[in-house]
Amino acid sequence: MTGRIPRSFIDELITRVDIVDLIDSYVSLRKAGRNFTACCPFHNEKTPSFTVSSDKQFYYCFGCGASGSAVGFLMNYARLSFVEAVHELASRIGMEVVYEQGSAPTSITAFDDLYQVMAQAAQYYRQQLRQSQAAIDYLKKRGLTGEIARDFGLGYAPPGWDNLLKTYGTDSDMRTRLLKTGLIKQKETGRRYDHFRDRVMFPILDQRGRVIAFGGRKLGSSEHEPKYLNSPETPLFQKRRELYGWYFARKTRPLERIIVVEGYMDVVALAQYGIPNVVATLGTATAREHLTRLFVSVSELIFCFDGDEAGLKAAWRALETVSPLLQDGRQVGFVFLPQGSDPDSLVRQEGTQSFNSRLAQATPLSNFWFDTLTQQVDMRSIDGRARLVELAKPLLKQLPAGAYRDLMLQKLSELTGVLLQNLTRLIQRGEVPEPPIIKKLQPFTSVKDLSAVHRAIVYLLHKPTLSQSVQYPNKKLSNLKQQDIKILLELIEFTRRNPQLTLGAICEHWRGTSSEQTINQLATQKPLFTDTNKIDDEFLGALNGLYESYKTQFWVELMEKKPNEWSAEERQEYLNLVGQNSH
Ligand code: UTP
Ligand code: MN
Repeated sequence: MTGRIPRSFIDELITRVDIVDLIDSYVSLRKAGRNFTACCPFHNEKTPSFTVSSDKQFYYCFGCGASGSAVGFLMNYARLSFVEAVHELASRIGMEVVYEQGSAPTSITAFDDLYQVMAQAAQYYRQQLRQSQAAIDYLKKRGLTGEIARDFGLGYAPPGWDNLLKTYGTDSDMRTRLLKTGLIKQKETGRRYDHFRDRVMFPILDQRGRVIAFGGRKLGSSEHEPKYLNSPETPLFQKRRELYGWYFARKTRPLERIIVVEGYMDVVALAQYGIPNVVATLGTATAREHLTRLFVSVSELIFCFDGDEAGLKAAWRALETVSPLLQDGRQVGFVFLPQGSDPDSLVRQEGTQSFNSRLAQATPLSNFWFDTLTQQVDMRSIDGRARLVELAKPLLKQLPAGAYRDLMLQKLSELTGVLLQNLTRLIQRGEVPEPPIIKKLQPFTSVKDLSAVHRAIVYLLHKPTLSQSVQYPNKKLSNLKQQDIKILLELIEFTRRNPQLTLGAICEHWRGTSSEQTINQLATQKPLFTDTNKIDDEFLGALNGLYESYKTQFWVELMEKKPNEWSAEERQEYLNLVGQNSH
């Protein structure tokens, strides 16, 4: 992943995403005229002043001034980084995030053909499952119903080296695609063969339900083959981001928490037993990317691990990964299963109710944390308690500032007898203060009080198509000395070239530039949120005013020179203006 995400990609992304859909999945929105409203999630209020505009792809709170695009919302609300927010949005609508490599950005829709191949392969495997008694027997033996096999699209890759290759690799285009998806492998000798052979196939879906990879389980117990084989990382599939079962789990209503387990079979079995809100990582440890994705949709996670040594280790790793993400309101618990059982075997053995009560009694992260650490020291001695502080320090530093961290510090203070304020100082040393969630914007009182340049920017932001009617060449206006004239001219240029882009996309386009603040401030004009009908004339009026200022400025500068010092250009412009005035 080298390079930057090109601005053109973000433009495209914002055009395809629907901000109303996005925000509605976190904050329940109500329709109010052309817009949608809710009580603002960024400050406390009783009557809704938070507004989301579908036309403008922009949200704005009249109460606290929070505002932005879909990307901005995810950054502020779900506390994602810019790049994470872009990835999250892209995967919601099935776009691949592209990075600038050298100069040529990759085409955004380049992978359509690969998705198609994956869908074909999934269909092929499903059909093969219907025809294989051995595979059907295997699934039956493991207790799966036909219904759940269908829900998860399970299939079967028959034995043999080239079943898929022969069926679909008929031309060289298709063979290339099969290779790119990892369904077909190629030896150094050039010989190609099916990656998955004689395996039950678990299709891995993205957030939109498209097949992006497979996991395959061997039927037998042969020692020579790995139990599970996964698709390699491909342009469609990155293990760090994807979770098995996520597409299915997301449909749970109400979706309050997600259970994270280790295996494919665990997800499928729990779903079969009426616990659908389950995902599994794909043969890797839980990664930050997995967790940020989950926290976008729920605020509570329960990790389910084996009670053995390996399970405890994995749980501790998960704790370390999740700690930096523990903002207020988020909750994490751990369930440790009896030795030798996994969720699949346990739920079949003890039933849904017992399994659910295990979940209900999950160990809170803080307990797991303190239990694990106190076991490593002798709490009866001063040395031991000092050691506990040392052990706790790096993890506490990871926790974001907030009520959760305060409680942890409090508990550590109680356990060790070290004064709370001393612990707090220890943690905060060298700490970079968190940026405030929302850059507080000062909403302007009235458009009328703004300069002509700012007025024109405001109108253009709220009705980008206005730039189509601008007749003055930018070159002239760019000589103007007015504040922010450059921004206006850039905006005119940009909206002319991209007439389809909305306010949200425009604000996003200026993110990280020196004009970001100005653009955002000017975007938050309350009256224009509801009514942009009458602004055409006002926009042209503002521009006319600017053109008049330009003329005045031109005359003043010209008159300071002797006519023989005028450039050819100035002479021409002089004639233009004299000509205009004489009409
Ligand atoms: P487990 O060994 O716990 O398997 O691996 P399981 O899910 O209980 O499978 P069954 O019940 O024996 O069929 C947990 C997960 O680790 C990954 C897979 O994602 C699997 O679901 N794994 C395991 C592999 O990627 N490769 C392997 O060889 C084994
Ligand atoms: Mn198992």
